[in-house]
Amino acid sequence: MTRKDHYYNKAKQEDYRARSAYKLKQLDAEAGLFGPGNTVVDLGAAPGGWLQVAAEAVGDRGTVVGVDFQRIRDLEMDNVETIRGDMTDEETKAKLRERIGDDGADVVISDMAPNMTGEYSLDHARSVHLARQAFEVALELLPAGGDFVAKVFDGQDLADLRADVEREFEYVRSIRPDASRDSSSELYLVGKHRITAPVREGDELDVVVDDVGSEGDGVVKVDGYTLFVPGVETGDAVRIRVTDVKAKFGFAEVVEE
Ligand SMILES: C[S@@+](CC[C@H](N)C(=O)[O-])C[C@H]1O[C@@H](n2cnc3c(N)ncnc32)[C@H](O)[C@@H]1O
Repeated sequence: MTRKDHYYNKAKQEDYRARSAYKLKQLDAEAGLFGPGNTVVDLGAAPGGWLQVAAEAVGDRGTVVGVDFQRIRDLEMDNVETIRGDMTDEETKAKLRERIGDDGADVVISDMAPNMTGEYSLDHARSVHLARQAFEVALELLPAGGDFVAKVFDGQDLADLRADVEREFEYVRSIRPDASRDSSSELYLVGKHRITAPVREGDELDVVVDDVGSEGDGVVKVDGYTLFVPGVETGDAVRIRVTDVKAKFGFAEVVEE
């Protein structure tokens, strides 16, 4: 039996609407995407396999909002909502923003794929375009620490897309789930822990140390973002260079004058 048959049959037996459900399960197992109570946005969600997997993972206190221009048959799951629309239209993005509200989402996932023409470079370019739409939405909806997943067909424009995602997340991985190996060019870019920090690695700033933390490092707040600086005392006025930027805090060192 080929792998395709295996996941197709498994989906039928386990009541998933699409065999792609197993891709999301494998992505979650490898990259740790979902937690109970999370809010998840699923782009290109029809027929609903990913919606089922995400809804099970976030549980009753969580919410999954799926978007597709195709109709998504009602899933009869209380924690799933759907919006019908094209994610390249501003109107659909506005509806989604309104639904998610100011608290934002914990995870934005996209399985959007173009209609295949069979001309490889065109299909690749269109898939990168859709992944970029999803990336844009992720930047709008994810607060610090949020995660992003987008399907893309491998090819010449992937490196640029990946570099752009790397600037906005702590780290990025490309994952080819076992369940998708029958279509060789498909992979998922996974951005973990969105960074919204007001500083970047290498920035230099003049600061006054606010406090000293329990580990003995100085604590400097920049627009609410915490930087830990070793070897300083509360009240010190120093010039610092940012050495590492994480989602929720970062590190800096004193620049010797
Ligand atoms: C591979 S299927 C998704 C399967 C889904 N993850 C599941 O598990 O059931 C790709 C979906 O992306 C949708 N799609 C492609 N371009 C889109 C766009 N611009 N806006 C919204 N949906 C789009 C298609 O309609 C299609 O349903």
